[in-house]
Amino acid sequence: MKLHCYILPLFAMAMHIRPAVGANGTENAPTLQLSTDSAFNFQFLIALGDALTGGSDIAPVLGAAKNIKPGDMASYSEVFFKLANHTKAEAEDQGNAYDPVNVRDTWFSAAQYFRRADFYLHGNWSNPLINSLWEEQTAAFNKALAALPLPGQRIRIPATKGNFTVEAIWYGASEAEHYKRPTLVIGNGYDAAQEDSYHYFVASAMARGWNCITYEGPGQPTVRREHEIGFIPEWENVVGPVVDYVLSEKSHTVDKARLALVGNSFGGYLAARAAAFETRLSAVVLIDGIWDVYAAFSAQLPREIIAIYEAGNYTEFDRELLTLRETGKLSTNAAWGLD
Ligand SMILES: *[C@@H]1O[C@H](CO)[C@@H](O)[C@H](O)[C@H]1NC(C)=O
Ligand SMILES: *[C@@H]1O[C@H](CO)[C@@H](O)[C@H](O)[C@H]1NC(C)=O
Ligand SMILES: *[C@@H]1O[C@H](CO)[C@@H](O)[C@H](O)[C@H]1NC(C)=O
Ligand SMILES: *[C@@H]1O[C@H](CO)[C@@H](O)[C@H](O)[C@H]1NC(C)=O
Ligand SMILES: *[C@@H]1O[C@H](CO)[C@@H](O)[C@H](O)[C@H]1NC(C)=O
Repeated sequence: MKLHCYILPLFAMAMHIRPAVGANGTENAPTLQLSTDSAFNFQFLIALGDALTGGSDIAPVLGAAKNIKPGDMASYSEVFFKLANHTKAEAEDQGNAYDPVNVRDTWFSAAQYFRRADFYLHGNWSNPLINSLWEEQTAAFNKALAALPLPGQRIRIPATKGNFTVEAIWYGASEAEHYKRPTLVIGNGYDAAQEDSYHYFVASAMARGWNCITYEGPGQPTVRREHEIGFIPEWENVVGPVVDYVLSEKSHTVDKARLALVGNSFGGYLAARAAAFETRLSAVVLIDGIWDVYAAFSAQLPREIIAIYEAGNYTEFDRELLTLRETGKLSTNAAWGLD
């Protein structure tokens, strides 16, 4: 599994780019850049990386990269929305139905492009596209899930502590009843969806004989949209019910001595917290381990603004920061984080 590739941009910026480089700059980048906007470049790499497991195709993503204007979130969304619509039409085209594997990957790709179209739209939570694009990505992904050799299974697990439902997808490595397999419990972080996890981890893990379950908790795409619940610190209350589910409902196929929790990006923080309380795990994988989320956020913003925050004047902080946002003075990454 190419575990090292996937760190969401907020933290990537904070950890990997030296202060001498502008917040949205691509100077001294070690690889060919697909946009002068480093945040967009990063998103294009996410889409391209998923081509390895059928979650995109290379030429359409390079075409999108060419047509999207650096720094222009509306252009980013519009171009991917158009590509998603086009890809969905290809998946539905009966002329392509003779090749079901191709149709499945076309649905995975359509889902990916709908997710990308949503990515920079969060400045205004009344925007109806935030839900309608998500319904499209979910519907497209479900078509692909159903077409896997062993179809993925959507599950809703009620939390026992807290007022929310964990959204999950179970991917069994085999139908064999008497062979217990190692199992990954996979969670993302600040913004990626459990559908992204299929391409980041699940496809590769299943190819190596592992079961997987992906999940989303409060603050994450589906729970945020459907229940309007933001992040909670008590992440053990999210992971606990998932582990309960796996060890009860899937006990015939899960080797309980080989149950690993994976936390990706900000999930590297959430998973560490959960693992501190959850004794039934045998391993925890943090990509990356994050000690201090505040450091990652605050490194994105002008020092004068942070000084206002640290002095405790939150009203003034909000006012100044929103003014910078509205007048287009924040880098794409900082604007996205704030939205
Ligand atoms: C960074 O963003 C600013 C403002 O949008 C722009 O003027 C500048 O050219 C950008 N830098 C790069 C390297 O894209
Ligand atoms: C995509 O298709 C929908 C209808 O399904 C339409 O409302 C929307 O405008 C299209 N978006 C673009 C960018 O073409
Ligand atoms: C947010 O979106 C809604 C629905 O499209 C719109 O009516 C409203 O004016 C928008 N608000 C802002 C501040 O742009
Ligand atoms: C739980 O959530 C529902 C729906 O969001 C809400 O109506 C209800 O008041 C909440 N209950 C508690 C105990 O927070
Ligand atoms: C916050 O900053 C504003 C603008 O400088 C100032 O008018 C206000 O008195 C400050 N409030 C506090 C509580 O320091």
